[in-house]
Amino acid sequence: MPFAARDGQLAANSVPLATIAAAVGTPTYVYSWPDMAARYRFLKSAFRHFDCRVCYAVKANANLAVLARFAALGASFDIVSGGELERVLRAGGDAARVVFSGVGKSVAEVDFAIKAGVGCLNVEGAGELERVAARAALLGRRAPIAVRVNPDIDADTHPYIATGLKESKFGVPPAEALALYRQAAQAEHIDVVGIACHIGSQIGTAEPYLEALERLLALLDDLAETGIALRQLSIGGGFGIAYQPQERALDLRALGRRVAAALAVRSGQPPTVLVEPGRTLVATAGILLTRVEYLKPSATPGQPGFAVVDAAMNDLLRPALYQARHPVRVVAPAGKRQRWHIVGPVCESADCLAWDRRLAIETGSLLAVEVAGAYGFVQSSNYNSRPRAAEVLVDEDRFTVVRQRETAADLWRLERTA
Ligand code: LLP
Repeated sequence: MPFAARDGQLAANSVPLATIAAAVGTPTYVYSWPDMAARYRFLKSAFRHFDCRVCYAVKANANLAVLARFAALGASFDIVSGGELERVLRAGGDAARVVFSGVGKSVAEVDFAIKAGVGCLNVEGAGELERVAARAALLGRRAPIAVRVNPDIDADTHPYIATGLKESKFGVPPAEALALYRQAAQAEHIDVVGIACHIGSQIGTAEPYLEALERLLALLDDLAETGIALRQLSIGGGFGIAYQPQERALDLRALGRRVAAALAVRSGQPPTVLVEPGRTLVATAGILLTRVEYLKPSATPGQPGFAVVDAAMNDLLRPALYQARHPVRVVAPAGKRQRWHIVGPVCESADCLAWDRRLAIETGSLLAVEVAGAYGFVQSSNYNSRPRAAEVLVDEDRFTVVRQRETAADLWRLERTA
């Protein structure tokens, strides 16, 4: 447990959260590196029964310090933009260990990826294949590619984060993929290296992955028959975690065993399996630390009042966008427990971080909005001209500010009064 009570107060590993708030202010994202590292090692161990490459999905938490630490652990990276590639390189990551997904790669991004020498561009359609082949030819380089296959699988998740249905904008159906591979195999400046796939996020059971794997292996066989022998395939990320104690996370060990079994029944050298986990590696390692500015008790007895805190939907968008329920804990409980809606200062009724929680708080109390290490800071904005929060990385008994709090001057740095 990276965030547990010590001497009656919540701490990040052994650093009291109150110490961080006093030094850095609030709102602040606090990440426990020991928890991220432990999650990475656990995943590696759960998938040790097959040849597996872990590509951390940068979009979940792109802080340079986090990327540098994962690179040092030997992780590969899954990226979706030129900006993410810049970050990986800046953090000391190796371009050859990067896979580049995403439906809309611009010419500039394709060029950058080819020149940097990324390990694989995951091509999501005929137009993109054409563009990559043309740019590689122009640059006099060979571009390694995989086709992103959309296996039409219902991953039973929130509609905004399901990507593997045929109605979704991602990838191409297996039949079309076959035609694209034939085209790619003939292109002079293309190296076909694998098959890519990602069916969605917050997936709670192994079945959708096994179904997808089955379809990918069938495609692999069809391709081998036409003389296209591929060495790797990706089953994507999306490994579900528990946001609330009653929820169940995806059983990674069981998934690992079942993937290994599905590969073992085949003849010949099994392909390397890439996985692209984001959330499962970083979500539980992060909290958003915020302070109660005002308490507005309800006029109706028994109804929740409003606890107005200094973090808002611009800092953590998930509750407003997905109705996500993040746990909220009080750093040092005070007074009697009452029902509160935890809301921010942004001028939108959707600006609620948590609905109806029983908390013992008073004005000035510090709160930890938990399981915020993934898709927290990265989805934050400057709405209402709010400078973005600071980010802090904790190593057992010490902490480092890995992103300073923005200032007003940062907000208008690129503007002029005309
Ligand atoms: N690979 C690809 C190609 C992806 O599109 C994604 C996530 C991942 C890997 C990593 O998925 P993860 O393991 O983190 O579930 N903002 C949403 C999640 C969007 C996920 C988008 N793609 C949220 O806050 O729930």
